[in-house]
Amino acid sequence: MQKVIFDTDPGVDDALALLYLLRHPDIDLMGVTTVFGNAPVALTTRNARFLLRSWGHDVPVHAGSAGPLTPDMPEDDFPVHIHGRNGLGDHPVPDDPREEAESASSFLIDTIRANPGQIRILAVGRMTNLARALQTAPDIADLVRDVVIMGGAFRVPGNITPAAEANIWGDPLAADLVFGAGWQVTAIPLDLTTRTFMTRPMLARLAQEGGPDMQLVADLSQGYVGFYRQSGYDGMVVHDCCASVFLTDPELFALTTGEVRVPWQGIALGTTMMNPSDRQGPMDAWADRPRQAAALDGQPEAILARIAQVCAG
Ligand code: BDR
Ligand code: CA
Repeated sequence: MQKVIFDTDPGVDDALALLYLLRHPDIDLMGVTTVFGNAPVALTTRNARFLLRSWGHDVPVHAGSAGPLTPDMPEDDFPVHIHGRNGLGDHPVPDDPREEAESASSFLIDTIRANPGQIRILAVGRMTNLARALQTAPDIADLVRDVVIMGGAFRVPGNITPAAEANIWGDPLAADLVFGAGWQVTAIPLDLTTRTFMTRPMLARLAQEGGPDMQLVADLSQGYVGFYRQSGYDGMVVHDCCASVFLTDPELFALTTGEVRVPWQGIALGTTMMNPSDRQGPMDAWADRPRQAAALDGQPEAILARIAQVCAG
């Protein structure tokens, strides 16, 4: 069994990614850490608890960062036109009045130290919790098994600016710290995820075959599907679930490796820049950076088939 911590901002596609992890027989989900992103952290935390409760799972949830490490970023800028005002497509979610202290980064540190060499972090929101954990406890970089993120746009346009993908754009300084640490990072970027398109008929079939758990995902995806319809697409991109599939079926992904830097100021803020070769020269900004990996290509149809198999199973 793979021991996984899921760092997330649910988030419609986050919900499908979570269901995949819960249903996969090879995944031991140790905990869920939440972060601001698709909605404020109070709501993404409430949403994570709601999903786990609805699906009958007692996995610990730890609230994380409410805002970015990067200075001068806009506040209260949430994608309500994509994920709804509550982050789950405005699907009704019961109030959860509890106010809790931030515990995501300490949970990450404690769990990684208690399970040396074993923990895989799957991060599908802003990288803020991971960066905070690294700042507090740099030793965790040597203790995790690896880090898989949904994020970045390496050879395709971003979805927030021409250069930046949402999870990186939302806290580019945190992303730069995560790519620069000595752990193995694999990014599942827009280059591949935007090609992993679940059509509306496929979603409907999954909801039918997958029982009430999958029906909930289909219900809360309606606004998200509506967002894609406005751009002429009939279905939805399942960004975060692609990254879940990487944990279990890495052979469906084609990786490119190189040092990665993320500018966190100026017009290129949030760009994921990879130095793909061992290029020498005026490259100080890349000196001493570890080589990381990004899935710039892969098999979208096979990834979708895997999602259907696991989530309808
Ligand atoms: C990423 O941004 C969020 O809106 C999605 O949940 C996904 O993690 C895609 O750019
Ligand atoms: Ca997400």
